[in-house]
Amino acid sequence: MTQSTDAPLREQTARTFGNLIGGRSVPSPKTFESRNSSRLADVVGVFPEATKEQVREACVVAGEAFKSWSKTPAPIRGQLVGSIGKALEREKESLSRLVTREMGKTLKEARGSVQEAIDTCHFFQSEGRRLYGQTVPSEMPNKELTTYRRPLGVVGIVTAGNFPIAVPAWKIIPALLTGNTIVWKPSEDAPAVAYAFAKLIEEAGVPAGVLNLVFGGGAGAAGAHLVDMMDEGLLHKFAFTGSTKVGREIGAVAGRNLLHPTLELGGKNPLIVMRDADLDNAVEGAIFSSFGTGGQRCTSAGNIIVDAPIYDEFKQRFLKRVEELRIGDPNEHDGVLYGPFINQRFYENWASHYDWGSEDGAALLHGKGRIEPGNEPGGFVGDPEASYYGWPTVWEGVQPGMKLFQTEVFGPTVNLVKVDGIDEAIATANAVDYGLSSAIYTNDREWAYAFKDRIEAGMSSIHNTPVGAEAHMPFGGVKGSGNGTRESGIWVIEAYTYWHGINDDVSGKLQLAQMDTAYVEPQDEVNVDELF
Ligand code: UN1
Repeated sequence: MTQSTDAPLREQTARTFGNLIGGRSVPSPKTFESRNSSRLADVVGVFPEATKEQVREACVVAGEAFKSWSKTPAPIRGQLVGSIGKALEREKESLSRLVTREMGKTLKEARGSVQEAIDTCHFFQSEGRRLYGQTVPSEMPNKELTTYRRPLGVVGIVTAGNFPIAVPAWKIIPALLTGNTIVWKPSEDAPAVAYAFAKLIEEAGVPAGVLNLVFGGGAGAAGAHLVDMMDEGLLHKFAFTGSTKVGREIGAVAGRNLLHPTLELGGKNPLIVMRDADLDNAVEGAIFSSFGTGGQRCTSAGNIIVDAPIYDEFKQRFLKRVEELRIGDPNEHDGVLYGPFINQRFYENWASHYDWGSEDGAALLHGKGRIEPGNEPGGFVGDPEASYYGWPTVWEGVQPGMKLFQTEVFGPTVNLVKVDGIDEAIATANAVDYGLSSAIYTNDREWAYAFKDRIEAGMSSIHNTPVGAEAHMPFGGVKGSGNGTRESGIWVIEAYTYWHGINDDVSGKLQLAQMDTAYVEPQDEVNVDELF
C-alpha cells in the first residue's frame, strides 16, 4: 500500500531505504511509504522516489558493469544464480511473510510465489553450463561457422506488485545469467519485497552495478524516467509486466529505438466447463482461479463459459461455494481464500466495474462492493476497516459484446457465460481482445483436442485452471496480452540474447561465399524408363 509520506496512519517509525545504484544506497529528495495491504496502519518501509538523474545514473553504472559482467564465464554466472537460489531458499519463510504483509496474498500462495523464484534459479544455474551455440558446416573448405549467444547490454525492467518476487525473477535471473546488467524499477506497491530480493542477489556475490534498483511510481515518475532512457540510448532491452495500455506505450518507445521489448500484459482468461465435465473438479478450479489472490493475477479466470445442459447445476454449486468463502487478513487467519486488495487504487479500479456491469445489462448474482462493517459476507474474518476488501462478485447474462466480458477487472469478480456446445464455447473464449491463459474441463477427447487446436492463448490447461504456470514453461500471451515474447524456461533466453554468427576462415586466401563455392554440376540426365 502506498501513501504520501505525511499520511496520518503511521504508527511506528519504519526504516527508510535508498535506491541501490552501483552497490550504494542512494536516497532521493522525495519518499513514499509501503504499507501492509491488510493493515494500513502498519508501515512496512519508506522508499525513495528516484529522480530522472538517479535513474540515468543507474543506467550509466549498469553500462559500466556490463563490460566485465558480460565477460564473466557463463558457468560462473550460473553458479552465482545458484547461490541466489540458495539464499532465497534459506529466507523463504521470511520472504513469504513479507509478500503476504506487503501484497496481501495468502501465505500458501506467497510461499508458492517465492518457490517460483527459487525454481527459476535452479533452472538457470545449469543453463550457465549450456547456453549452447552451434557449429555449422561451411560451404567452403578451411572455413568454420559457429554461432554464439551474446548478451544485449543494459536491461530496463518494470514489474507489477501482484507477483513481487516470482515475476521479477523470471526477468532478472535469465537476464543476469546471459550476461546482461539491469536497472529494475519494481512496483511502488511492493518495494520492500524488491529490496529484500536485491539484497539477497547482492549477498550471492553478484558484483556492484550489475543489478541496480530504482524506486518510485510509474507515470511521471521513476518508471517513465526508465522508459525515457531508451530514447537516451542507455538501454538495450526493456522488459515490462503490467497493463496493456502502458505496454503499448513502452512498445512504441522501444520500437522507435529498434529494441525488442518483453511485454507481459493483461488477460481476461476463459475457463470452459463442458456438459460432460467432472463438476466437483470444475467448481473447485473455477473458485480458485476466480477468487484466489483476490483475482489479482493476470492469469485469473475472467469469464466462466458454461455449456447449456449443465449451466444451472454448475451455477448452483458454484454460488454455494462462493457464499461460504473465507476472506480476511492472511497475516492472521490461516485458511482464508483471499485477503485484501493490494491497495486503495486496486480497490477503486475494481469497484468501478459495478457500474459497467449494470450499464451492460448483466445480472449481479453475488457481491456487494467493498466489505465494510454491516456489509460483510458470511465467511469474512477480521476487521474490514483495516484495509480494502471486496465481496466475491459473480455476474451472469454476460455476452461477448459487453465491457464486462472484455475488460480485465483485476479483483474478485467473475462472469458466467452460457453457451451451447464446444464450437460456441471456443468461439466465445476467443471473443476477447486478450489471449494470455485459458482452460477447459471436459472428458471428451475430441472436445479437448478442438480446444487445444483452436483456442487463441499463450497458455491452456485441460482439467486445470488458467492460473498456475510452472516455472519452466513458456509464459506469455497473444493478441492484447503481449507482443509474442516469452518468459521462463529455455524460451526466455531468446529475449535476453542476440545470435552472433562467426565465419572463421583459415584458407589463407579470399574465398567468396556463393561465388567461389565449388558447387558440383549434375551429369547427363538419367531417364529410368530408358534404362529398362
Ligand atoms: C502474473 O499474474 O503476472 O500462472 C503472473 C500463474 C503464476 C504467475 C502469474 N505462476 O498464475
